[in-house]
Amino acid sequence: MKFKNTSEFQSKIKRIIITEEEIQQKIKEAGKYIDSLYDGKPILLVSILKGSFVFLADLARAVSVPCEVGFMAAKSYYESTQSSGIVKITMDLERDISECHVIIVEDIIDTGRTLNDVVKLLNARNPLSLRVVTLLDKPERRIVPFKADYSLFTIPDYFVIGYGLDYGEYFRNLPYIAEYTD
Ligand code: IMP
Ligand code: MG
Repeated sequence: MKFKNTSEFQSKIKRIIITEEEIQQKIKEAGKYIDSLYDGKPILLVSILKGSFVFLADLARAVSVPCEVGFMAAKSYYESTQSSGIVKITMDLERDISECHVIIVEDIIDTGRTLNDVVKLLNARNPLSLRVVTLLDKPERRIVPFKADYSLFTIPDYFVIGYGLDYGEYFRNLPYIAEYTD
């Protein structure tokens, strides 16, 4: 994706649907939820790359419990008739998680396929506990029934960009979440 200039790039941003302030407010609440749930126990926040890198950075700074961060990248492949496929880990965690309280940090749950597979995969490694926190949830688009333990915003079926989410690898650096338009 190439842009002639900044104004062409900006013309793709249809409208802001969640502001920076709204995001930061909900992240404070999510941090308190995590603190109360783990009550001083150390946690491992696992970011699913690339979309959740911005959210992870803010969420990690909103918790007070001892916190490690880890990164994973996954690609899922599906047969059209199957609701669950094979998840290929293109980048894995560096550490064993069997002694960890793990929280998967995701940018958005759309069809539910990626997280369904990643949760199965991490559960097979026997962590002490495993939860999922997502910034955004698009329940209308679900193909695999998947529910996060904590979701900051539920949105309609818009294609969204910003705050880590991309279209064609661009727009991840917008500080807000916007609707994309072609
Ligand atoms: P799914 O839940 O397996 O369908 O996939 C979710 C992934 O698709 C997310 O982690 C995003 O990377 C990507 N995705 C889904 N919806 C959007 C969107 O509206 N904007 C940008 N990326 C999206
Ligand atoms: Mg993602």
